[in-house]
Amino acid sequence: MAEQIKPGTTFRDDRGEVAQLHGVGVIRVGERWYAWGEDKRAGSTFTAIASYSSADLASWRYEGDALDASCDHEGTGDLGPGRIVERPKVLARPDGRFVMLLHIDSADYSDARVGWAIADEPAGPYRYLGGERPFGNLSRDIGVFQDGDHAYLLSEDRDHGLHIYRLTDDFCAIAALVATTLKDDGSHGYESPTVVRAEGRYFLFGSDLTGWSTNDNMYATADDLAGPWSPWRPFAPVGTSTFDSQVSVVLPVDTAAGARHVYLGDRWQRDALADSPAVWLPLTIADGRARLEWRDQWSLSDLV
Ligand code: GAL
Repeated sequence: MAEQIKPGTTFRDDRGEVAQLHGVGVIRVGERWYAWGEDKRAGSTFTAIASYSSADLASWRYEGDALDASCDHEGTGDLGPGRIVERPKVLARPDGRFVMLLHIDSADYSDARVGWAIADEPAGPYRYLGGERPFGNLSRDIGVFQDGDHAYLLSEDRDHGLHIYRLTDDFCAIAALVATTLKDDGSHGYESPTVVRAEGRYFLFGSDLTGWSTNDNMYATADDLAGPWSPWRPFAPVGTSTFDSQVSVVLPVDTAAGARHVYLGDRWQRDALADSPAVWLPLTIADGRARLEWRDQWSLSDLV
């Protein structure tokens, strides 16, 4: 039987340790999946971003740390003790290099910037380039999205909403603001954003702003990233708080039967963040709707 993914448990890496796949980012490179996660073993503040790889999203090989304090060659202090460095998301640049975007913050989350790092190999080590507030806007939880040679940053700014920014051709700076979305009641935008393109349209996912606590995550659709975006809808059974998890990524997976999607979420344990279980489940996108159903265990080979 193929190695099983068990939602609501942690992954063990090839060393037998709890895989630090928190706030995960994942991309396919050649025959393997590469994933980067927040190493929370020292608590909520930064020590490292860990790299892993896998052939099946179920068993994970530790590939070393992508980023730690020694990667801050520019001396920005962004990767120093007591800092927040979250939600590593990597883009494969057409020239073969890898660009990592991160939520960079102070321990009280008042800094609210996006940071960039670059590497020649997916696992790293990455060189930290610095961070900024895009066009002066707050930037906390982030996601990224690649559409051919174009790449986008999704960034939560509670003053204005959830922004979609287009990146420059080298993916290392912001080129333009593409859209800003708000909750249907207009109060603020969703966070922990991720986008996929399916059925000829864009599906944007996010969670409400409840910190480490979970909520009923939502999604909206649009024919164009610039919008107009539809009203928001839940994709998991209402009242389950997205099976007690917060979306990090919706991952497209190619199968013999076509494109499928996997929901990668975190069930944060605020007093033991390093042991926060992963809630990873197949996500069905059909007829313009996204739907998440519980499974006790499953494997990529089930996605047909
Ligand atoms: C959440 C966010 C997490 C983490 C947490 C801290 O809103 O999604 O990544 O920053 O707040 O309370």
